[in-house]
Amino acid sequence: MQTLILRMGPDWTTADESRKALDQAVAILRGGGTVALPTETVYGLAANALDPQAVAKIFTAKQRPTWDPLIVHVSDPDMFATVVAEVPEEAKQLIAAFWPGPLTLLLPRSAIIPDEVTAGRPLVAVRMPAHPVALELIRRAGIPLAAPSANRFGHTSPTTAAHVLDDLEGRIDAVLDAGPTAFGVESTVLDPCQSPMIVYRPGAVTLEQIRAVAGPAEFFIAPASAQQPAALPSPGVGLRHYAPRAELVQVDLANGSAAQLHERAAQFPSQRVGIMLPSGLLNSPSPWPPGPWPPGTEIFDWGPWADPEELAHRLFAGLRHLDARGCQVILCPVPPEQGIGAAIRDRLRKASFPDSGSSEEG
Ligand code: TXA
Ligand code: MG
Repeated sequence: MQTLILRMGPDWTTADESRKALDQAVAILRGGGTVALPTETVYGLAANALDPQAVAKIFTAKQRPTWDPLIVHVSDPDMFATVVAEVPEEAKQLIAAFWPGPLTLLLPRSAIIPDEVTAGRPLVAVRMPAHPVALELIRRAGIPLAAPSANRFGHTSPTTAAHVLDDLEGRIDAVLDAGPTAFGVESTVLDPCQSPMIVYRPGAVTLEQIRAVAGPAEFFIAPASAQQPAALPSPGVGLRHYAPRAELVQVDLANGSAAQLHERAAQFPSQRVGIMLPSGLLNSPSPWPPGPWPPGTEIFDWGPWADPEELAHRLFAGLRHLDARGCQVILCPVPPEQGIGAAIRDRLRKASFPDSGSSEEG
């Protein structure tokens, strides 16, 4: 299969080039095909959520196990109403506050949602993305779109169309290129039907923001005994994913100093080391490169340590960059837990699990 690259013009929704790209994407989706599309978080791999055969193509392209359910993307309240059976009060408040935006809600599904989308579960994950191209595409297609992140199963999520092609070229019908995504980490996944509400995946909408709008909410705490991901309430909370090919080593910079990074960098003398290097750390070698890093060390300029939104935005691009430079080990400082920092920590923790060959999220 040849993957069509559909480029959006600079004026996303109105210019001729954009209109043509959107028309082609709509035709593919309505014909049961797969299109990678930009959202405000990461690129997603979309297909008609109401067509089990189209949905099956997503799982095949990503090599994703069929027990890991997909998020359904909607463009407006009317479409939303067709995919859910019931909406609790907390969910209504959250929707009013955060949609369109990076918040995915687990809600009782309506009869039109096939088992293939929810892996047979009673709840469907739904969100209204805040990217004008995604919204326009869904609106024009007139169908809800199932879309996981557009990467190979277990791999780092794509924040550009080039990342999508690295993983999926030849395996999907098209990619709609509208430049890099804004947030860089995936949406927050929340079950508002429980009390307190449960966050299964931290994201750009933070626990603090959710509590302020709709009341008590907690992060999911994984059971102490190991469980098959398929048996977890949200399979993505489990083992290794978002992973680069290199071994990812988390480094605690408790005192905001670069010293620990320097120490760790010297501990892998026979391997090619890459560093996700934030700016604004104390005692950073200056100027760098070529600072006092061991010879051959690859540096990725991660962005200001004091700006976690920027760190989130550049996280996956940095991991992919260091992979592409042939790094075998990537050292990455762990940001503080507050706000979107929780999402960055979650992705780093899951990406640094040893590769047991059983990663479970795509
Ligand atoms: O930002 C995002 O959410 C991106 C963009 C493309 O929208 N999508 C994304 O999808 O990250 P994916 O499939 O890579 O991650 C979806 C997560 C997985 O952890 C999955 O296990 C969980 O949501 N999930 C999906 N449907 C669920 C359901 N019905 N019940 C519980 N968890 C569900
Ligand atoms: Mg994913």
